[in-house]
Amino acid sequence: MSEHQVEPHVFVIIGATGDLTRRKLLPALYHLRDQGVLETRNTLIVGASLPEMGEEGFRLWAFEGLQQAGWRNETELRVWCEECLHYQTLHDGSSQDYEALALYIRQLERTHNMPENRVFYLALPPDTVPIAMERLDQAGLLKSHGWVRVVFEKPFGHDFHSARHLNTTLHRYIEESQIYRIDHYLGKETVQNLLAFRFANPIFESLWKRDTIENVQITVAEDLGVEHRGAYYQQAGALRDMVQNHLTQLMTVVAMEVPVSFDAAAIQNEKQKVLHSVAPIAQQDVVFGQYTSWQIAGQTIRGYREEHGVPKDSTTETYVALKAEIHNWRWKGVPFYLRTGKRFPRKLTQIAVTFREAPTQVFRSLDPGSISSNKLLITLQPSEGFSLCFSVKSPGRPFQLSDHALQFDYEQAFGQLPEAYETLLRDVMIGDQTLFVSADFTETAWRLYAPLLTGEKSVHLYTSGSWGPSEADTLLEKNGHRWVLGW
Ligand code: BG6
Repeated sequence: MSEHQVEPHVFVIIGATGDLTRRKLLPALYHLRDQGVLETRNTLIVGASLPEMGEEGFRLWAFEGLQQAGWRNETELRVWCEECLHYQTLHDGSSQDYEALALYIRQLERTHNMPENRVFYLALPPDTVPIAMERLDQAGLLKSHGWVRVVFEKPFGHDFHSARHLNTTLHRYIEESQIYRIDHYLGKETVQNLLAFRFANPIFESLWKRDTIENVQITVAEDLGVEHRGAYYQQAGALRDMVQNHLTQLMTVVAMEVPVSFDAAAIQNEKQKVLHSVAPIAQQDVVFGQYTSWQIAGQTIRGYREEHGVPKDSTTETYVALKAEIHNWRWKGVPFYLRTGKRFPRKLTQIAVTFREAPTQVFRSLDPGSISSNKLLITLQPSEGFSLCFSVKSPGRPFQLSDHALQFDYEQAFGQLPEAYETLLRDVMIGDQTLFVSADFTETAWRLYAPLLTGEKSVHLYTSGSWGPSEADTLLEKNGHRWVLGW
């Protein structure tokens, strides 16, 4: 992970008037400026989009968005919007529109005496990405005397073939070293800390293997439903939307070997090796679920089939639990349970590492249920940190054990953490690809889940506000395990 400075550049958001720009990108850019990473003289932000809102309209829209995101200093906000934000209408996205955009960018570069360093952030629906790349290329924007980097949002295809096709299309215009595929989970501080935690602390690294670990669980639970994204979600489902990317990324970071350095290539290489070692996932090791409505305090929480844009007989999954096995020397025999779902009782993203039980001969007089395994709970949301759980003797008699934890909370230790997008945008600007997804990773991950995407699947219903269908508990019970939530 390099510590380079941000070089002067133009940061162009194609499709700039959407939700992503207002909720994530602009707040992240503004915060980077607040920390002194971005300066007016080194970064010009150009929004390019269909609406004819003009420069002033875009600045006002951005200003209001930043205020909604909690920024209160009106004068500073206004100055930033005035000085840093620019706008060019793309009308219907024709070649002429992109030529006009090219003229506009070159003129900005000239008047601000900028080198031709450019970031293009494609905040676009996935099916319009290839045409946008073609237009950028035709307008000559992808070739410059400086550097050009292009940022893509997920989904990167919807299966192996479409992902490969997309990668081939992108490589027609730019090199892999210019491509930044975002998986915002990789921008979360705890995910990066996992590397430090594992590799800088020999006490953990020496235990990080099948001899000592019983199972690993990765839970990404959301309390919200699909909200206004029913139509998109109907095509995606939880396996495509969450498992193929976010959960698989987390699994590879947990399971990877020590890289030779913290360089992007070295880390991506180790993650890729893990992915190649995952055994084919058997149908019987996967549980799909879908949330139904829930009555609470006189209110009805809608079920998935009642969501806007979702057919009444939909069998799209809003929940997945599965068992993966990594067939390498470190992990053979240790199940990795992955689960994610919408409309859980609360938001929780957690990696739970359960260690093997102690040989309990010495405690044989105790109730067997009172002896727990050590657990390491790494929490990414709602707060970032970890707990190491262990058994202690309760004071007095009779001799009894109880569970306690050593806890570390990131915000308590360091104050407010950077938002994932902030980290990722800064990395794009300094040209560090470590926290981005490689072409190989997307393709291998799609290949891993391919049989589950096409086969017949039975979807088990679960009530909103529950932790998913009971079949997912059975999945673990078959191996003598249980889902871990806390300690
Ligand atoms: C997105 C998915 O990638 O991640 C959404 O498309 C999901 O469906 C979101 O809600 C979860 O992100 P986070 O950071 O809130 O856990």
